[in-house]
Amino acid sequence: MCGIVGHIGPNNSIAVVLEGLKRLEYRGYDSAGVCFKKELGELDLHKKMGKVDNLKEAIAPLEVESHTCIGHTRWATHGEVNDLNAHPHLSDTITIDDDRSISIVHNGIIENHNELRLEIKAAGLKFTSDTDSEVFLGLMVIELLANVSLHDAVINSFKKIRGNSAFVIIMKGSREMLSIKRGAPLVCGVNIGSGEALVSSDPYALVGTADDIIFPEDDVLCSLSVEHEGLIKFYEMDKSESKRYKLKKQEMSLEISDKGDYEHFMLKEIYEQPHLIRALSQYYTLGPGKELLASIINESPKRIHIIACGTAWHAGLVIKNFIEKIARISCVVELASEFRYRDPILFTDEVGLFISQSGETADTLAAQALCKENGLKTFAIVNVEGSTLYRECDYNLLIKAGMEIGVASTKAFTQQALTGFLMTSAMSDTLNADNIAQKFSLLADRIQDLLDNVTNIKEIAEAIYLHKGFIFTGRGREYPIAFEGALKLKEIAYVHAEGYASGELKHGPIALIDDLMVNIALISDELYEKTFSNIEEVKARRGVIVTIGPENDKNAISLSDYYIPLCLEGLEELTPLYMNVATQLLAYYMAKFKGTDIDKPRNLAKSVTVE
Ligand code: AGP
Repeated sequence: MCGIVGHIGPNNSIAVVLEGLKRLEYRGYDSAGVCFKKELGELDLHKKMGKVDNLKEAIAPLEVESHTCIGHTRWATHGEVNDLNAHPHLSDTITIDDDRSISIVHNGIIENHNELRLEIKAAGLKFTSDTDSEVFLGLMVIELLANVSLHDAVINSFKKIRGNSAFVIIMKGSREMLSIKRGAPLVCGVNIGSGEALVSSDPYALVGTADDIIFPEDDVLCSLSVEHEGLIKFYEMDKSESKRYKLKKQEMSLEISDKGDYEHFMLKEIYEQPHLIRALSQYYTLGPGKELLASIINESPKRIHIIACGTAWHAGLVIKNFIEKIARISCVVELASEFRYRDPILFTDEVGLFISQSGETADTLAAQALCKENGLKTFAIVNVEGSTLYRECDYNLLIKAGMEIGVASTKAFTQQALTGFLMTSAMSDTLNADNIAQKFSLLADRIQDLLDNVTNIKEIAEAIYLHKGFIFTGRGREYPIAFEGALKLKEIAYVHAEGYASGELKHGPIALIDDLMVNIALISDELYEKTFSNIEEVKARRGVIVTIGPENDKNAISLSDYYIPLCLEGLEELTPLYMNVATQLLAYYMAKFKGTDIDKPRNLAKSVTVE
């Protein structure tokens, strides 16, 4: 899930591309690079391991401008993280005459890269990196050595690769910037007034430059050139003119996302939750979302398949409880990465509900396509308006979380779950604006109380962060929060943590318990006694007990080594979302004590656009 950006036009393309890469760093930040045309068209490549700022520092002394530039910020799929494996890739000019040296950037995966690598080596070409992406460059060089046109070289090479991919290509002797994709996000943009054209893996990179954005479909060759009327042309693979693209006005605003007074985006986003919860209630009961909810009142599917990944999947587990308890509709929650490979049994009177912050997660998109092929209505609970998932689904329930910069999802989880609650209320025709406002406001108030009093959580984080491992447990509606709390801790503190249903511990995991293991136990009025007996089983084996549960609880006070008391009164089915904020804060402060990169944790990216 890399970020790719290309720009042509009278302004300094290098500056535009670097700014775009900065905005796309959430897609991956293992390395970054640019390749731009110098005065006489020769291609100049600069790339470095590490974040975009490293690259900016490296090229600042050049004090160079260009009017054609491509750039890339990488999340490594093939080949370790180093300078050589950074993109862009540049053809070695000795293999083709200088006028046809080419450079490419790639987002996605070339699944058949091994067999193609052999073919390219047999043609006498050498590789300078271990990446699958450089295989596409090699295929293009072979085509150009056979003296085909640049368009044919791209098309012929693209036909040979398998896997979801998007490419942007420039060649020294051509005024065109070409791009093509299949199964990976790609968006073009133009600003006729300023004579600029852009291409990227995310519309956000085009905000502030492009007035019109264009979403080409798969296998459409996009040609950007100042020589084209309208700056851009589209071709089918047979080189005929293509009309397979959607044009829309750029509506995304360039949210000036800065951390403000917060040390990390993640903390800022945790603290945004009370406000966002209230705004969501307004949006769907009194604002633009009201009509959409009204339109789904008559939807009464036989079954709902909730399909997502990671934190979104955990939100799906919470939403399943809402749907089954309130709407009494049968619900299954599926991991998107498993769903389509198990030949699922699907019926047209069922609904596919896809949950995704980015709307670009490859596994979730593929699952949605399968449901669509099988005639199911598809709903999205999604944050990014205009994302691929947003464009592909029949209904879009926006979670209105604003940009979530922290790779570890916090506010999006809460908004996803609450949007699911609203959807459920609509489907069960129990949507009452006052009731929703009261519930959401109470939740927001309680979360605000917690956010205003984090000293206890900070102290607990400092006391436990060096322990060997962490087992989060919960029952009933808190069970999903055990998973989500564990994931947050893994992601940002790099410690081993697992989420379990409390009743499951005795079926094996309790073997892990000793005085170096911490059980973070989520307790509410639901299955209270049973949950406490599970905690006592851990205590009996010298496990360290952290309870997150009802305030002034005598059992929690007597049994716990550490206790995070919460006022759960009146929250009822929204209780898990309150408790979850305590686990978000616990993970955040433990990571702070560990000194990790909380907003951009190692090995991760915000949007997983590869399978
Ligand atoms: C959450 O903290 C992680 N960053 C990850 O699990 C994420 O939720 C998952 O990749 C799904 O992303 P999406 O919501 O954009 O589809």
